[in-house]
Amino acid sequence: MLNEIGQEPSAIKRALEILDQDGVVGIPTETVYGLAARLDRPKGLEKIFSVKQRPFFDPLIVHVESVEMAKRYVSGWNTICTILSEEFWPGPLSLVLDKSESTPDIVTAGLTTVAVRMPRSLTTLDLIRQAGVGLAAPSANRFGKTSPTTGAHVASEFGSSVFVVDERASEVGIESTVLRVRGNALTILRPGLITRTIIENVLNEESIEHTWEEVSAQPKTEAPGQMKHHYMPDVPLILAGESDSITEIKTYIENHKSEMLDQVSGTNGRELILSTNPVLAAREFYGSLRSAARSGADFIYFRVRKEMAGELWSAIFDRLNKAASLRMDTIK
Ligand code: TXA
Ligand code: MG
Repeated sequence: MLNEIGQEPSAIKRALEILDQDGVVGIPTETVYGLAARLDRPKGLEKIFSVKQRPFFDPLIVHVESVEMAKRYVSGWNTICTILSEEFWPGPLSLVLDKSESTPDIVTAGLTTVAVRMPRSLTTLDLIRQAGVGLAAPSANRFGKTSPTTGAHVASEFGSSVFVVDERASEVGIESTVLRVRGNALTILRPGLITRTIIENVLNEESIEHTWEEVSAQPKTEAPGQMKHHYMPDVPLILAGESDSITEIKTYIENHKSEMLDQVSGTNGRELILSTNPVLAAREFYGSLRSAARSGADFIYFRVRKEMAGELWSAIFDRLNKAASLRMDTIK
């Protein structure tokens, strides 16, 4: 039986039991699905890394159900954080702040900072509320692979060993913007659909002074997760120019074999098609990439078009570039 907000109360109950017993569960969020453990269960947190085959140097995001809960895990919460959380939470913005003693080191990979966010899924918010502690969760995919945006995607990553508390499709579709807040200095560590311009407009409206620092100016240890390859589908993805024919793409692959991370095992290509509206394109992105990889194709290609410009598209290209095995020099 579903309750008034369309949840299955017994699913939340089951998830709470698993989390209590040092387990991990799949949780829906508006961005991508997470693989969650309780912040006060060290064995559960370790399990996230072993199930994902994720190296311990990559820190996790802490998911909270309120600003009050966020404040338990950070220090240095300031007016900028208050304004941004009021504007964007629950929603796809993670704030990186100095951590408090309540945040275990395994979550932050030994860093002195922690990422926190309040996700926009009623089921997940309810789960966190009932758990009474933050849930650490990376995206629920095998390390380096395509992120999941439905419950079925999580099942295809980990099989039935991971219980998924809800099945709904994520409406944003790409991961949260990760924003470092150090006093009034801001750095986007990972782009998302909440862009620098959007953040800037909100702060300017409130007359909050702030400065921007580039991610390249950050010490490498403070800006982890900048891996060159990530989000990769199970068959190679090639980024092509907008007027490249399939024959030209195949010839290019043939001539650039040695540059490819993974080899193309045949000549059957499948085009990845995305909406021209970047908000819709983000929503479709991981699901379409997965279907293309499952279609029996030997490689996937995506034609990069001139209109795919601007901050929203650049968040999508951050993923496309990392997911790709080869980028043709015909891209304008
Ligand atoms: O939308 C999202 O953020 C999703 C959902 C599940 O909430 N989560 C997600 O987690 O994308 P994950 O682990 O796949 O990516 C987290 C990113 C990584 O690039 C990590 O390096 C960065 O956030 N991160 C986490 N803690 C950090 C910290 N203390 N300092 C800098 N970067 C941090
Ligand atoms: Mg991820």
